[in-house]
Amino acid sequence: MTQTIVITGFMGCGKSKVARELARRLDAPMIDLDDRITAREGRTPAQLITEAGEDQFRAIETNTLLELLQTKEAGVIALGGGAWIESANRDLIDSYGCLSVWLDTPFAICWQRISASTDERPLGKTIEQAEARYNLRRPVYSLARIRIPVTGSESVDQLVSHIEAQLERLQ
Ligand code: S3P
Repeated sequence: MTQTIVITGFMGCGKSKVARELARRLDAPMIDLDDRITAREGRTPAQLITEAGEDQFRAIETNTLLELLQTKEAGVIALGGGAWIESANRDLIDSYGCLSVWLDTPFAICWQRISASTDERPLGKTIEQAEARYNLRRPVYSLARIRIPVTGSESVDQLVSHIEAQLERLQ
């Protein structure tokens, strides 16, 4: 696999777990964009959004993504839930010839995971706010090259097999 694969989807859709397993199977390095931001900035995305504001976080997110793509160090990238929504990031992903995969997970499942998690998510604080954001973003996620429907009852293994089948179809 020479193309970098980027995994996108809403908060709680399963991006990091799926990206990790896909990278393991492809024997490629996996990088989580939010983790890279935290290492680079010394603050988590949640802290950056709360302390510096979302606009500043988005600028950092774009710069970090660009660095990641330039160094070609990742075979698989798990994006943060809002990264794909920015057109500048989609253009970057496109210009580096990456393959985008959208995990299309129903809102109810995303919310279950968001509300059960100890991770701070300032853009998904209330169910109303999160659902409105989910509905606004859905058409933009659908611009990804590959869509993987998620019902919540599949294992990570099964989801990755679905992705691999789609990747094969594209080759
Ligand atoms: C965000 C999602 C988060 C993180 C930040 C903003 C978003 O990542 O990047 O809090 O705008 O949806 P996860 O999707 O991994 O929760």
